[in-house]
Amino acid sequence: MSLFVTFEGPEGSGKSTQARLLYEHLQARGYPVILTREPGGTRIGELIRRILVDLQHTEMAPTTEILLFSAARAQLVSELVRPYLDAGGIVLCDRYADSTYAYQGYGLNRDLDELRAITSIATGGLQPDLTIYLDISAEEGLERKRQPRVSRTSTGKLVAAGLPTPNVSPPEWNRLDARDLAYHQRVANGFRELMLHEPERWRRMDARLPVDELARTIAEVVEPLLERITPLN
Ligand code: TYD
Repeated sequence: MSLFVTFEGPEGSGKSTQARLLYEHLQARGYPVILTREPGGTRIGELIRRILVDLQHTEMAPTTEILLFSAARAQLVSELVRPYLDAGGIVLCDRYADSTYAYQGYGLNRDLDELRAITSIATGGLQPDLTIYLDISAEEGLERKRQPRVSRTSTGKLVAAGLPTPNVSPPEWNRLDARDLAYHQRVANGFRELMLHEPERWRRMDARLPVDELARTIAEVVEPLLERITPLN
């Protein structure tokens, strides 16, 4: 048995920080776990990511964008995610197919059924067991992303947030962030719609809670699913 957990949320929701904290928590307890991200996570995927986020690529057609995200995803699933799950491990992924539905589907008004068909080709139908959604409004998320990367713990202590995940560079202000507020609002509403259609897979969390409190809650949500995983030693 294996476990596939994805993290989703608008820009500045802190999902990368929470994915990293869960990764460290599971690793410290001896579970076989990897943390990866989309777009990226593989050598080829990180090259595709550079094309996608480049601020100069203003001429990129929506279909090109969809196919590039899907190509990066296909590489990630076949090179990393599928083999690790098949070996009985835990895969944590910072964004996955739901981002395509929210950003390209709701954000760019592309047909969701078409996106589902492309995604199914890219992933071979692989679905997450659990998706953690860090909920924050588009306005507040974008504001947080522009601010220095600090957050508060429950005791009011300031800590660095958005620390890079292993082998991953720090957050950047990119071509997709630079889209207007209305776009980001459609994306945030899109995520909420997606959750309504599949409530059993999603767990919504308030992204404005202190970092450590959120991390504890996420660890509690994951705990019962660990029964199916054999620790390394
Ligand atoms: P990400 O690295 O998660 O950026 P951030 O941590 O700053 O939110 O994702 C990069 C950007 O790509 C982000 O703006 C969301 C967007 N994206 C899509 O538009 N579609 C997708 O399918 C994915 C995976 C990401």
